Amino acid sequence: MKKLDILTAPYVQEMMETTANLYRLGWDERNGGNVSYLLDEKDVTPFLDVNKVVRQIPMIFDASALKGRYFIVTGSGKYFKNVEKAPAENMGIIRICEDGKTLDLLWGLENDAVPTSELPSHLMSHIARLAVDPKHRIVMHNHASHLLAMTFTHELDEKAFTRTLWQMCTECLVVFPEGISIIPWMVPGTNEIGEATAAKMKETRLVLWPQHGVYGAGETMDEVFGLIETAEKAAKVYTYVQAQGGVKQTITDENLWALANAFGVTPHPGYLGK
Ligand code: 13P
Ligand code: ZN
Repeated sequence: MKKLDILTAPYVQEMMETTANLYRLGWDERNGGNVSYLLDEKDVTPFLDVNKVVRQIPMIFDASALKGRYFIVTGSGKYFKNVEKAPAENMGIIRICEDGKTLDLLWGLENDAVPTSELPSHLMSHIARLAVDPKHRIVMHNHASHLLAMTFTHELDEKAFTRTLWQMCTECLVVFPEGISIIPWMVPGTNEIGEATAAKMKETRLVLWPQHGVYGAGETMDEVFGLIETAEKAAKVYTYVQAQGGVKQTITDENLWALANAFGVTPHPGYLGK
């Protein structure tokens, strides 16, 4: 049967739109940021012959737990600014091989491009999230400006950081009741930072990389984008609040409990007072 044009696939369109939005928000300068999106084989077969492997790409991490799974991923060193005008050069569709350490490239990553250098962190995070949420699909990393700035000025304690974000916008507790996790500063692109990130992803969908950026995970592109956007907005408000001379009044723990009850969410245990 004749295959449909891959550029019309909804997930390709979503990747194009999202990377453009991330660029416009200023969170993905140069090649900053990366996105990976878990696909079902049935999402791919209308567009591609899955037996036609363009080339194989080795990987430093053993992703056997994801063997046979398909992802659309952004390329390493690729600029989000350029994804919309040249999708096949800046993104690719890959499948994890049986050995877990090789990728089948099925489309894209033209001119010998390779998937994001953060693929170990992405794949390990996918494994961690799928274990707690079978509907999980997307991992997104970017350099959200105000969250990044806050990692220089705010105490890097997960409870304290989460509480500050929750206090900056009423919506925050509802959007990320589990809070935000923080790993130590680490070299990006390594298995070690992947392991540290994935360990946190078991509990929270947001993980902060100090002096670098943020990771988010979710079931849909809108959900994960909105998650990071909400935390980033809180960080922006925090920046304004500090610039305006600091907090004079805030959302109290009593208010936050009322909010949690009204919206039926469970705040991270121990993060709110009685
Ligand atoms: P890549 O270009 O390899 O995706 O890396 C960008 C980045 O943000 C690294 O943390
Ligand atoms: Zn980065």
